[in-house]
Amino acid sequence: MEKIVIYGGRPLKGNIAISGMKNAALPILMGCVLVQDECIIENLPEIHDVTVSLEILTAMGAKVRMLGKNSVAIDATGVRCGSAPLDLVNTIRASYYLMGAELGRFGRTRVGYPGGCDFGVRPIDQHLKGFKALGANADIVGGYVEGESDGGLKGSHIFFDLVSVGATINVMLAACMAEGSTEIENAAKEPHIVDLANFLNACGADIKGAGTDTIRINGVTELHGCTYTIIPDMIEAGTYMIAGVATEGDLTITDVIPKHLDCVSAKLREMGVTVEEGDDWVRVYHEGQLRPTNVKTLPYPGYPTDMQPQISILMCLANGTSTLKESVFDNRFRYIDELQRMGAKVNVVGKTAVFEGGGLSAANVRAVDLRAGAAMVIAGLAVEGKTEIDNIRLIERGYDHIIEKLQAVGADIAKVEIKESDAMKQAK
Ligand code: EPZ
Repeated sequence: MEKIVIYGGRPLKGNIAISGMKNAALPILMGCVLVQDECIIENLPEIHDVTVSLEILTAMGAKVRMLGKNSVAIDATGVRCGSAPLDLVNTIRASYYLMGAELGRFGRTRVGYPGGCDFGVRPIDQHLKGFKALGANADIVGGYVEGESDGGLKGSHIFFDLVSVGATINVMLAACMAEGSTEIENAAKEPHIVDLANFLNACGADIKGAGTDTIRINGVTELHGCTYTIIPDMIEAGTYMIAGVATEGDLTITDVIPKHLDCVSAKLREMGVTVEEGDDWVRVYHEGQLRPTNVKTLPYPGYPTDMQPQISILMCLANGTSTLKESVFDNRFRYIDELQRMGAKVNVVGKTAVFEGGGLSAANVRAVDLRAGAAMVIAGLAVEGKTEIDNIRLIERGYDHIIEKLQAVGADIAKVEIKESDAMKQAK
């Protein structure tokens, strides 16, 4: 078993280059199932979820050829509908994009129910609503999502009951080769929705309005291969910005699109942080006490829910009372117990956490999900002493070379193997 060990209290200084965006790469990789030709995808992050996605596509019959550590050639011509291995599908959330891709290509689908981080209830009713509107009677049957359409999908009008990244993506995938036009209203507007639309359009799809709350899709008869480069990961970038602030360092985060980070930068400035921006970089530096602030997570362009655990660390360090309201997921505060082990003065009432500030102390903690795990790393970097983080595979699902990137800017951080016997002792 492995854990991360950090000796904290050292300011992070220097440059960190950002990798391709996990939540853009995953729908684009699964979207290749729509294309009976070769697609070359570049700027892929080296993360576990990408590896699993490529394993799923290979198992389904796609030809997958790594062209380098961050680029892959995928020819999905030989993909067999309904053949995604269940043991791989239920390890990642993004496997559910296969539903839309299979419906879009074959007019039917059978995919195991997805996995993913535990934030309480994560229904897929809006996905099913979209598929039904397109003429596929999709439903959950015995741990699988199954859907069939008589004579292929037909374009339709879909007004989502709530903003859902996954449902918006799945309907885009299913609709781009449907007969006729589809209009999606109350669509998610995240940058990765735009990235997927740009990829599909590069393959010959006809999608307009991605990035707004109304997306119009005119179905085409087939898609062709393309070469496509994934956008930078705004959540990875925001995570390192907050690490720079928490350690009173001076970090320049490169290969980013600053516009995607506007809400995070605005919040950091409210807390007293200096944030400078260039064409493809942002620089954060800060010394002394942080001002408290109030955050409510919202769909893009609001404050990202995937940046919620990270800013909680700054709220623990700030001088005064801050509030953090989670309005996207059912329960994204399971990590608060771990923060309390580090001495955090915080109370969770319903979907709002109230932080009294005043600082943290080193402790042994665990990653309860991907972004909360990254927040534990930030906390360990910020405090003097030794912090150990367990369950780190969750962090490696979404952060490309996080240890090496932090070591390069002065962090005393390493991944260590612990023997099974020690792990058993610790578990007792
Ligand atoms: C995607 O999850 C991301 N995952 C999440 O990132 C991210 O937190 C989330 O979007 C919001 O931005 C991937 O891209 C793989 P949603 P998704 O559908 O699609 C409810 C990370 O750390 N809902 O926008 O599952 C849902 O329960 C991960 O990288 C329904 O009620 O998010 C949630 O409360 C964590 N019915 C809200 O909507 C539905 O049919 C938003 O979910 C669908 C969603």
